[in-house]
Amino acid sequence: MNSQWWRSAVIYQIYPRSFADASGDGVGDLEGITARLTSLRDLGVDVVWLSPFMTSPQKDAGYDVTDYCDVDPLFGTLADFDAMLARAHELGIRVIVDLVPNHSSDQHVWFQEALASVPGSRERGRYMFREGRGEDGSLPPNNWQSIFGGPAWTRVTEKDGAPGEWYLHLFDSSQPDFDWSNEEVREEFRRVLRFWLDRGVDGFRVDVAHGLVKQEGLPDYTPPEDADSMGGVEPVPYWGQEGVHDVYRDWRKLLETYDGDRVLCAEAWLPTVDEIAQWVRPDEMHQAFNFEYLMSDWDPAVLRTVITESLRAFHAVGAPSTWVLSNHDVIRHATRLSLAADFPQGHGIGPRSPGRPDQGEGLHRARAATAVMLALPGSAYLYQGEELGLPEAIDLPDEARQDPTWFRLKGERYGRDGCRVPIPWESDRPAFGFSETGASWLPQPDDWAAFARDQQSGLAGSTLELYRELLRLRRDLGVATSELKWIDPMPDDALAFRVGEVSVVANFGADPLALPDGAEVLVASGALDDGRVPYDTTVWARM
Ligand code: NOJ
Repeated sequence: MNSQWWRSAVIYQIYPRSFADASGDGVGDLEGITARLTSLRDLGVDVVWLSPFMTSPQKDAGYDVTDYCDVDPLFGTLADFDAMLARAHELGIRVIVDLVPNHSSDQHVWFQEALASVPGSRERGRYMFREGRGEDGSLPPNNWQSIFGGPAWTRVTEKDGAPGEWYLHLFDSSQPDFDWSNEEVREEFRRVLRFWLDRGVDGFRVDVAHGLVKQEGLPDYTPPEDADSMGGVEPVPYWGQEGVHDVYRDWRKLLETYDGDRVLCAEAWLPTVDEIAQWVRPDEMHQAFNFEYLMSDWDPAVLRTVITESLRAFHAVGAPSTWVLSNHDVIRHATRLSLAADFPQGHGIGPRSPGRPDQGEGLHRARAATAVMLALPGSAYLYQGEELGLPEAIDLPDEARQDPTWFRLKGERYGRDGCRVPIPWESDRPAFGFSETGASWLPQPDDWAAFARDQQSGLAGSTLELYRELLRLRRDLGVATSELKWIDPMPDDALAFRVGEVSVVANFGADPLALPDGAEVLVASGALDDGRVPYDTTVWARM
């Protein structure tokens, strides 16, 4: 395994609840993952990142942790984790786990101790407890709103039964924020990092990596109406505070005491790549998700700008750029790219949403978008199921929904369940092969049989085979470690660039685009039109 593998790796996100369920209870698990790992080797990914599987009451699908050093029985045991890790390494696949340091579950022993203790105690000092405003303290300490909707503060009842202090939760009330100015919190997370590094993990995806440190004095802040749920417009008193970088400098040093190349990847949902790049300066993290790229419209001018800016901003700090189109928090890109209306991140789409997307157009575009993304220098993230071309599950019944956003806003926002539906493996098996019993924690749409892996495997032109081919060429031709050069001039509605010996041409316009004489097409995201590149199609060629 090469050193600095993270500079060009393809990292596949497994959402454990929805990947493969060996126990048959309808929720995916570690044993299920282990059993299906060969399919990821065959796909050609380098790394898997697992969303949280640690002990949790699952109020936010595991992003609410009670024990950072154990596996939730829903997903198995530590022994199952070790077996999964060993199997992945045997197959040449690295493993990154999710770390959630901004907040714990309210069931975490520390938070339970804090509730049982008095204001000003050591136990309260691990979280953000404050007195309320107003004469009787009945108003929250400031006006911050939870990312999931509603106030970001909840008032507790003290031991004597009187209404007491308030605690901060940037997310659900079941997710109290730690106080990162407290050295005890810092030491605890060093312990957690060591625990997983000692078990052999290759790194961590760090949840809400821009949020740990809050501005002194906790001043009021009102985000703009249309802000993405994880973002805001700078300066935001709870995002991107200078002090947060010290935490990662400390962690970087800790990781460097381990052999091999262990990495930290920041989920820092900030609006521009220049801001995001602050998380990957040489003594901090290795990678940061490029959310500006994810949020970009399918438009050649927009993409050219964001690609140029990403490469510039990340390279300026010596880091690779990353690229991502889908994850467990956004509408799947096979649907998102054909949405007629605007859907801010986190709002989700459901049966009553305006502007129902065209599934055919969405998939066609998604394939073209992926063929662009996988040609870009740097590291790329894939989200489970996108290699099958899965769309967002729009028509989930209300009673099936589980995202805290849905409950906190009483159905006003659908939230993220539509991208989290268990994925199909075999078209003719119960739950399309997700679980032997047919159980599935979110219902799978009936027409997902057609997306099942077994229907696409070996089928020329399928989305799965397209991904395999792109990943094979990317690896064999060293695409991700090459320098990108724009091919100019190109028509306004095209995007064209060279990476090493590969030329990439994407056509966004109605008129098919002719390739130069003698061009040798290596792979195309859709059928060509008499050798020309049609609307919403990307080709990789030698030319
Ligand atoms: C970001 C995670 O990706 C999301 O799923 C989660 O709800 C929040 N952080 C809170 O942990």
